[in-house]
Amino acid sequence: MKGKVIVIEGLDGSGKATQTQILFDRLLAERIKVRKVSFPDYQSPSSALVKMYLSGEFGTNPEDVNAYAAAVFYAVDRYASFKKDWGNDYADGAVILCDRYVTSNAIYQMAKVQKEDRESYLEWLSELEYEKLGVPKPDFVIYLDVPSEISQALMSKRYDGDESKKDLHERNLSYLADCAESAAFSAQRLNWSVVNCVENSQLRSMDDISTEILKLIKEKLNL
Ligand SMILES: Nc1ncnc2c1ncn2[C@@H]1O[C@H](COP(=O)(O)OP(=O)(O)OP(=O)(O)O)[C@@H](O)[C@H]1O
Ligand SMILES: [Mg+2]
Repeated sequence: MKGKVIVIEGLDGSGKATQTQILFDRLLAERIKVRKVSFPDYQSPSSALVKMYLSGEFGTNPEDVNAYAAAVFYAVDRYASFKKDWGNDYADGAVILCDRYVTSNAIYQMAKVQKEDRESYLEWLSELEYEKLGVPKPDFVIYLDVPSEISQALMSKRYDGDESKKDLHERNLSYLADCAESAAFSAQRLNWSVVNCVENSQLRSMDDISTEILKLIKEKLNL
C-alpha cells in the first residue's frame, strides 16, 4: 500500500513552510498518517553541494552552475532523504507532505535554460529523479502564487531587514523574475494546482489559504 506525496511549492517567501506546518497539524488532527519533510534537507550532510552552491562557492550568480549540475545537487539530497528518512513511511502508506520537491528544480533550474529547451529539460528532470533515482512522483502539487513584491517583503521581515542573510537565489531579483516565469510554465505543463494567495493586493490569512489547500487535497486524494 503505497503512500501519497503532496508537494507545497512556491517561490522564495511564498509561505511554503507556514502552510506545510498548518496542513501537517490539520491532517494529524484527523488521524491521517502523515509525515512532513522539507527540501533541501539542510540538517543532512547530503545537502553539502547545495549549500556550497547557494553560498556562492561555485560563483556568485545562479547561472555559474548550469541547470543540469545544480539540479543533480538537489536530486542526490532528495534521494538520501528518501532512502534514510521517509521511504519506509511512504511504502507503509503515509501521506508525505513536502515543502519543495523535484518541482523546485522545475522552477529554479529550468529558469536557466533557453525557452525552447524547457520541454526537454522537464523530460530530463523527470527521468533523472523519478525513473533513474527512483524517488516517487508527486500525487498532487500545490503552487502558492504570491507576487514578488509581497514575498520579498515577507522575506525581509523574516531576515529582520538583513539582506546579507539571503542566499544567491533570494538576492537576485532578475533571476527570481525568470523563476516566476518558469514556475508558470511548469504549473501548466505539469498540472499543478495554483492557489492564489493574494486578494485585493493583500496577502490572504494563513488560515484562509490553508482551508483552501486542505479542501483541494481532500478532493484530489479522497481523504
Ligand atoms: N498568509 C500569510 N500572512 C502573513 N504572513 C505570512 C503568511 N504566510 C507566511 N507568512 C510569513 O512570511 C514569511 C515567509 O513564510 P515561509 O517561511 O512559510 O515561506 P517559505 O515559502 O517557506 O520561504 P522560503 O522559500 O524562503 O523557505 C514568514 O515570516 C511567515 O510567518
Ligand atoms: Mg521555507
